[in-house]
Parts: sequence; structure tokens; C-alpha cells
Amino acid sequence: GFIKPQCKVLCVGLDNSGKSTVIQHLKPTSHKTEVTPTVGFNVEQFSRSNINFTVFDMSGAGKYRSLWEHYYKDAQAIIFVIDCSDKLRMCVVKEELHALLNHKDTKSLPTLFFANKIDISDHLTPVECVQYLELDGVKDRPWHITPSNALTGYGLDEGVNWISEHLT
Ligand code: GTP
Repeated sequence: GFIKPQCKVLCVGLDNSGKSTVIQHLKPTSHKTEVTPTVGFNVEQFSRSNINFTVFDMSGAGKYRSLWEHYYKDAQAIIFVIDCSDKLRMCVVKEELHALLNHKDTKSLPTLFFANKIDISDHLTPVECVQYLELDGVKDRPWHITPSNALTGYGLDEGVNWISEHLT
């Protein structure tokens, strides 16, 4: 009968930012697996807003980050997870993010930022992330930043709804 639209999403961000936890939370209960550091990448699926999402959960560990760019071409949207309690590594986030934004294959892809781990005290707010990462200068694609707590699921639905409204 009725076939749901499909959407391939690439989920990136530094190691330990919470990518796998975000994705586990979006999956149906029966398919949940334990969250461990990702080696290479994992492929996961879930449905929201009548869309079947296939998410490539890329490892954020330094030695695997060069893998990300090979998957940009096939993606219809990008989720970039930021650990906003990790102020020390915000400069690394900025470097990796700008490499992604400057890559030709990401041009015009809707990009969702989760300002994750907002439950941890002394975190950067989404506004501070925007300033530090210079997101206001990003005008060649739709983007959105939303605070999240991947442990409770707070903010995740808002983020995924934003993606489903910006797919082309
Ligand atoms: P890699 O697979 O190494 O790239 O890491 P990842 O980005 O997939 O991170 P992962 O989901 O494995 O989470 C790393 C750690 O952060 C785990 O111990 C999670 O439980 C924890 N974590 C994830 N999201 C949150 C959050 O919103 N708040 C808090 N306090 N902890 C979180």
C-alpha cells in the first residue's frame, strides 16, 4: 500500500558528544541497544512525522572523522551534535564544523544542531554556541539549533520535526 518517504541523515559531532544516545532515544523501545563508543559508524532506523529515517551514526573519534565526508553525498540532512558542557573542546568542534560546512557535498543540506547535555551545569547555551561557532555567517543552507538532553529525550522531537519540515 502506502510507502512512507525515506530520508537519509548523517549524524556527526565529536566523540562523546551524545550522537549514539540521541539516536537510541529516537528508536522504538524494542530495538534499543547499549551505547558504547562507535567504531567507524552504525546504521539505525526510526520513523517520525510519517518519514522513515535512516541515520548513519558516525564515530566522532579523531581517527574516524575523515570518514564523514564520504557519506555527505548520499545524505539529505545532517545532524551535528555538540556537547555544550565540553568548553575545552569547543575549538575542535569549530574546526570540524567549518571543514564540514566548506565541503562541496554538504552545500544546501538542512543542518540541525543539538546543543546537547544541557543538564550538565555550566554549559554553553545555544546562543553562545551560535556565537562561538559563527553560525550566523552560515547562509547557504537552512540550519537550526535546539537545546537537548539525550538522556531524557528533551529537545529531540523538536529537532527531528525541524528536519522533516526542511527536506526537499
Ligand atoms: P562516539 O560514538 O565516541 O562518537 O560518541 P557519541 O557522540 O555517540 O556519544 P555517546 O552517545 O556514546 O555518549 C557519550 C556519553 O555521554 C555517554 O556516557 C552518554 O550517556 C552521555 N550523554 C549523552 N547525552 C547526554 C546528555 O544529554 N546529558 C548527559 N549528562 N550525558 C549525556
